[in-house]
Amino acid sequence: MTRELIAELEKRVLIPTYDRLPILAVRGEGCYLYDENGKKYLDFLGGLAVNSLGYAHPEIMAALRDEAETILHVSNLLYHPYQAPLAEKLTRLSGMDRAFFANSGTEAIDGAMKLARAYARKQAAAEPFERYEILALENSFHGRTFGALSATWPKKYRQPFEPLVPGVRFVRQNDIAHLRESFTARVAALLLEVIQGEGGVVEVREDFLKATAELCRAHGALLICDEIQCGLGRTGRFFAFTKFGLHPDVVVVAKPLAAGLPLAAILAREEVAQAFSPGMHGTTFGGGPLQCRLALKVLEILERPGFLAHVGEVGAYFRTQLERLRAELPVIREVRGDGLMMAVELVTSGKSVVRQGLEAGVLMNCTQEKVLRFLPPLIIEPKHVDELVAVLRPILAALAPAAAMKGVNA
Ligand SMILES: Cc1ncc(COP(=O)(O)O)c(C=O)c1O
Repeated sequence: MTRELIAELEKRVLIPTYDRLPILAVRGEGCYLYDENGKKYLDFLGGLAVNSLGYAHPEIMAALRDEAETILHVSNLLYHPYQAPLAEKLTRLSGMDRAFFANSGTEAIDGAMKLARAYARKQAAAEPFERYEILALENSFHGRTFGALSATWPKKYRQPFEPLVPGVRFVRQNDIAHLRESFTARVAALLLEVIQGEGGVVEVREDFLKATAELCRAHGALLICDEIQCGLGRTGRFFAFTKFGLHPDVVVVAKPLAAGLPLAAILAREEVAQAFSPGMHGTTFGGGPLQCRLALKVLEILERPGFLAHVGEVGAYFRTQLERLRAELPVIREVRGDGLMMAVELVTSGKSVVRQGLEAGVLMNCTQEKVLRFLPPLIIEPKHVDELVAVLRPILAALAPAAAMKGVNA
């Protein structure tokens, strides 16, 4: 079927939740995607931070083929060989003690929120009050199931579904005074992304992050780091929070964990993890053998000498090239990000840039109307950055005069 026919069929049969880009993806290899006509696209979207090893990575493909011939699913009523080694590896890398496997980011965030409440309730015997509140940051995105949605800032996501889970309050980004005021004895946990991805690749300020850690400790509340988008090597570190010397109580990972298969994990400190007992939480598919085996392979590759250093180096090169563009083109307001989680904020809408990029064979994303977001595979080389910039330059230059005026008038 052609893309037009597929699009027509989708229009009739899918619940209308997605606005798709006009590409029918049929194949991928390394950093490139191919459509049904064989047109090649340099992928700087990376399946929204999932395809960190690119497409058809030979070692992932080999593990996938091998596992597919043995066992796909066993349920969590039985043991299989890969869940425990994966938990061991993830906990070692994150400084946590125990893991629970889920299927998606939002589901793992919901689980982490449940864990925070269960932990607070367990402490409750020693406390004269009930702790159940979760603090989240303005501009956050944590997912779309009811728990995670309740902690997601943009009203457009939350309002249609209210009432949401009670007890979530938002703290003003980088406002330490407001953070202090927000901490009451009822706060069970504070949930944050150290780099807000959907929020436009916004780094939370270091002094604010340090204050969250101190206040959590002082009030006996848990610090939960959502590393779903910024974690697992994206910034050139295994976990983005380590840059700030944070010691979270719970860490949540998902997106790239199983190279494109659905897998997420809640990682927790021992004492916190013990708040769950058999039956309190669970899932049918979470942590299946195929996903866990692939995740072990992903982590093995990430751990190889030089892999994360490569992310840091190409990321630094990418930033330099984007900064150069900014110096040339007033249409770029700011360059942001870390490692290979980068963004340029424009003074005008970025939607037409994404469309023109596609025509020129480059895939990228626009978030928050004006922010071009780049989440390429971590295996890109400087030549891929050059290819992207060569496409971006004329598109942004053509946008520049009108857009720069808009910026002046804004
Ligand atoms: C930081 C963050 N948390 C949570 C989620 C939700 O993950 P999922 O889409 O797998 O439910 C996302 C998805 O973009 C995310 O970026």
